[in-house]
Amino acid sequence: MMVNRNILTLDEFTIQQLRQFPKATGELSSLLRDIGLAAKRVNVEVNKAGLVDILGDAGSVNVQGEDVKKLDVYANNHFMGVLKHGISCAGIGSEELDDFVVFNDEVSNNSKYVVLFDPLDGSGNIDVNVSIGTIFSVYKRVSEKGKPCVKEDFLQPGNRQVAAGYVIYGSSTMLVYATRRGVNGFTLDPSIGEFSLSHPNIQCPEYGMFYSVNHGNFFRYDEKVRRYIDGCQRKTKDTGGPYTQRYIGSMVADVHRNLIKGGIFMYPGTVDKPKGKLRLLYEANPCAFIVEVAGGAATDGVQRILDIQPTELHQRTPLFIGSKGMMDELELYLQAKI
Ligand code: AHG
Repeated sequence: MMVNRNILTLDEFTIQQLRQFPKATGELSSLLRDIGLAAKRVNVEVNKAGLVDILGDAGSVNVQGEDVKKLDVYANNHFMGVLKHGISCAGIGSEELDDFVVFNDEVSNNSKYVVLFDPLDGSGNIDVNVSIGTIFSVYKRVSEKGKPCVKEDFLQPGNRQVAAGYVIYGSSTMLVYATRRGVNGFTLDPSIGEFSLSHPNIQCPEYGMFYSVNHGNFFRYDEKVRRYIDGCQRKTKDTGGPYTQRYIGSMVADVHRNLIKGGIFMYPGTVDKPKGKLRLLYEANPCAFIVEVAGGAATDGVQRILDIQPTELHQRTPLFIGSKGMMDELELYLQAKI
């Protein structure tokens, strides 16, 4: 097979972007390079998860009360370590950690950004060889540079994100990231160990064939949501259905498929958990940013995800996200106009 060596690598791409802004400091490019490096290391471990004794519970429970898998711990430590030793990040918040972490050294305190991440989304799928991912979100800190970062730096609404992205460890490993200027996807080329630009300027199709939701919860959803799901399964005047149901159990993989092919992903609130399961800061906000930049939409069923003012690091939110046309159809149901 001939491999095109003219394809831009992630580093080349970010530097090319940087060159368009001669006054830019290069801190964001450096941050993305750090994230790319951590992703490559985590990828190596994910790939051999079936071979080595890294599977299974790490013996602890995370702040959401869920079992922590060893790979979650590994991924968390790697992303945190790489960002700590870089030059662009003042501190991090992680889905796996109770509280945010201030790096608090001279270089970090003078850094412009804070990063929030879910180190291994879909980790319940690790031991059955299903795609999992890392999701990240970058904010410019609001606290004074030169001092340690503070909680307010992390509790910013999603519309203040500077960049967001995810890595999918799947049939191939991909890093997709968005800035306000666009969404670009890079596939890891194992022959050179570099993420190479494979999906430039990703646009989310206005409509798609897929709807993704946990049907097992159907009778615990609100009636309007149930009626919409019902509408997805048949041809009505209000939806382009019947759509095809696809639900992986790794949001990052479901969102990625729908971003590329068109579709809608839902994790609604249920009777027992009105705020659903997903975390605003680590999962919903970064995905909402990426999908919106690509032309799609994301809400909690009432308001735009990116406009929610977070009040706590681990707050949860219902999430509806995907193709713009399908989100408009959904809204008709949620507003009880149908
Ligand atoms: P986790 O990282 O704990 O495996 O959670 C995964 C998230 C999300 O990625 C996925 O879409 C959702 O939880 C699946 O939850 P349900 O099994 O409740 O549908």
